[in-house]
Amino acid sequence: MIIRKCKEEDLEEVFRIELLSFKFAYPRLLFHEYLEKLFFVAEENGKIVGYVMADEKRNLIVSIAVHPAYRRKGYGKKLLEHVLNFMKGKVILQVRKSNERAIKFYEKLGFRKIGEIKKYYIDGEDAILMAKRID
Ligand SMILES: CC(C)(COP(=O)(O)OP(=O)(O)OC[C@H]1O[C@@H](n2cnc3c(N)ncnc32)[C@H](O)[C@@H]1OP(=O)(O)O)[C@@H](O)C(=O)NCCC(=O)NCCS
Repeated sequence: MIIRKCKEEDLEEVFRIELLSFKFAYPRLLFHEYLEKLFFVAEENGKIVGYVMADEKRNLIVSIAVHPAYRRKGYGKKLLEHVLNFMKGKVILQVRKSNERAIKFYEKLGFRKIGEIKKYYIDGEDAILMAKRID
């Protein structure tokens, strides 16, 4: 497995993982924008199995997803640890309150709940705000 920067030609596969992973996918355009920011993919035998996007300026993990067939094999952990190498200070993220799997995943990686944002998502669901300090 390798982790490398996402390239324009990877976006089709990345977007497929996005659609398989989220009921409300981020728009394609957002993925294009992040090619200039912290955007990495995990590749296994030439196939993209997951991605992570982060915004260094806002100290924010924007999105992370692993193809359903490749979950619980450590790819998410490798991706998140990789992107955190490029970040410093208090790194934050938002996650849907109902997304217990992701909350457990982030807790395992050292993030802690620091608050809630009511009705943060388009369908009215609350967000849990989580943070981790990187020295
Ligand atoms: C969250 C997600 C990225 C995790 O990726 P992953 O590759 O499956 O995670 P890993 O295999 O690296 O898991 C690392 C640790 O996180 C925790 N974890 C991961 N998935 C879990 C689950 N379903 N239930 C409980 N704990 C879980 C475990 O402690 C795990 O370690 P272990 O397998 O040794 O017990 C993946 O489930 C996913 O793509 N979900 C859909 C998209 C999503 O919700 N993204 C987050 C949006 S904010």
